[in-house]
Amino acid sequence: MDSPLDHPTARALLDWHIELGATEAICDQPIDRYALSSAATAQPVPDAEAAKAIAPPPAREARPDPVAEARMAAEQASTLDALRAAMAHFPHCELKRGARNLVFSDGNAQARVMIIGEAPGREEDRQGKPFVGRAGQLLDRMLDAIGLNRHAQDPSEAVYITNVLPWRPPQNRDPNAQEIAMLLPFVQRHVALIRPQVVVLMGNISCQAALGRGGITRLRGQWVDAYDTPALPMFHPAYLLRNSAAKREAWADLLELKSCLLASETEGTPHVPHR
Ligand code: URA
Repeated sequence: MDSPLDHPTARALLDWHIELGATEAICDQPIDRYALSSAATAQPVPDAEAAKAIAPPPAREARPDPVAEARMAAEQASTLDALRAAMAHFPHCELKRGARNLVFSDGNAQARVMIIGEAPGREEDRQGKPFVGRAGQLLDRMLDAIGLNRHAQDPSEAVYITNVLPWRPPQNRDPNAQEIAMLLPFVQRHVALIRPQVVVLMGNISCQAALGRGGITRLRGQWVDAYDTPALPMFHPAYLLRNSAAKREAWADLLELKSCLLASETEGTPHVPHR
């Protein structure tokens, strides 16, 4: 390589660089890196461009399908304990992170009547049991009026209670469609394991989950099929606490439930007149 420096001068310059701390000779020519740095951020250097062109596109991460995973986990659960464990380990529902407890169920698993509510509130979240707050106390009184009780040993007087969602939504907001769809396979499995004679769909969200439609004012009191079981939509007790005029219809629905249960005692199968 031609150099404008004679040998002694070049040697002296090298010694001087070594004196200053240089440990490596990288280029023949000096590079003004200050001038380069602004250009480099504006324009990719050709080598980087070329590398990008030949590099394979980054592999797409397979996104989990929460509904499919819930379905698989629920189907594998052959007992109530296994179902509870499957729900506790289900990782895709964000509500779980804000909840204190998984609220699975209460009552007698042999009961003829299975009540499906919406989601735990504050008190349910604290105690880990469904319907133990104000709405739950009203529900207990309503059931008592027709001879049913969640603590009864006799299946013909007992009820089994659960919710569409096992975790409390923040500020008791309504569950959204995604949350309902994701947790529905667990509810379906829950009903299949309990095998009640009748299901009570307590409120709009419960109807939405089971029937794919809401509108409790029209649905209430009319027998429908839900989870392969005769089901009676009813006003939610929380709604009754706010609208006491609706208690009249709620009472009519309770009597309808009672007469269906009485008829099934004599006939052996649920007597469902309006289906
Ligand atoms: N409302 C519900 O729907 N479920 C509960 O457990 C409590 C209140």
